[in-house]
Amino acid sequence: MHADGPSPARGVNIILLGPPGAGKGTQAGFLMDDLGMVQLSTGDMLRAAVRAGTPLGREAKAVMDRGELVSDSIVSGLIDEALGGLSPETGVIFDGYPRTAAQAALLDEILARHGRTLDHVIELAVDEDALVDRITGRFTCATCGEGYHDRHKLPVQPGVCDRCGGTEFRRRPDDNEETVRTRLAEYRAKTAPILPIYAARGLVRRVDGMAEMAQVRAEIRRLLRPAGRRVEPGPAEARPPAA
Ligand code: AP5
Repeated sequence: MHADGPSPARGVNIILLGPPGAGKGTQAGFLMDDLGMVQLSTGDMLRAAVRAGTPLGREAKAVMDRGELVSDSIVSGLIDEALGGLSPETGVIFDGYPRTAAQAALLDEILARHGRTLDHVIELAVDEDALVDRITGRFTCATCGEGYHDRHKLPVQPGVCDRCGGTEFRRRPDDNEETVRTRLAEYRAKTAPILPIYAARGLVRRVDGMAEMAQVRAEIRRLLRPAGRRVEPGPAEARPPAA
């Protein structure tokens, strides 16, 4: 049994939805730690492909650097493939996917193919003015991917990752103000319109993403508890490689 009682994690599928910098990656990390869920981040997968220099990575890089969206078929293929490698018992967090109505429709097909159903869409509601500050100040551990921020979350020991002890950190090339503005515009035009689709299905749970990280974390746990399936946490699979 999980430390604080039965957990809703096993076999559960949730989407974290919100604009760039809303805290999707941060909260996905907490859910992995708290409930042994697995994060499927299309942004992380694309960045891994860019670093590996694959044809897909080369195609995606220019689009990502502009802050625009990569094609629906590419990102949906990545999700389909990643789900194929997971046990049906593993709880999954979709982070940064779906981002268009077409991707939302493809996700329904993919989930059905893998014998899964969508349980919750957690909307991280944020004030857009704060997002540029959040994004331009963030950096991650190059070894384990733990996220930090120049002003809001520095490593306890300067220059040393709290999670893994790594000493190399990196910043994303698309985390500059101009690209962030484009990413926010893409979110408003293409991603925000999928919220009403999920709301009509009764799946949307709204969380104040401007609250302290710990408070957001507790609120998401609270939302998952009563509505989720009351079963044990999923098997804690390894955290994905750093993005
Ligand atoms: P992606 O990697 O998905 O980036 P994003 O959606 O722009 O989101 P971010 O990673 O920037 O933010 P986040 O919400 O995870 O916030 P975080 O937790 O880091 O996508 C990148 C690109 O890839 C896209 O532009 C596109 O080109 C392509 N792409 C990816 N998926 C795609 C798809 N499905 N379709 C098409 N193209 C796709 O937090 C941000 C900062 O704020 C951190 O420093 C954190 O410490 C801090 N913070 C978090 N929570 C709080 C809080 N409560 N209070 C204070 N600070 C906080």
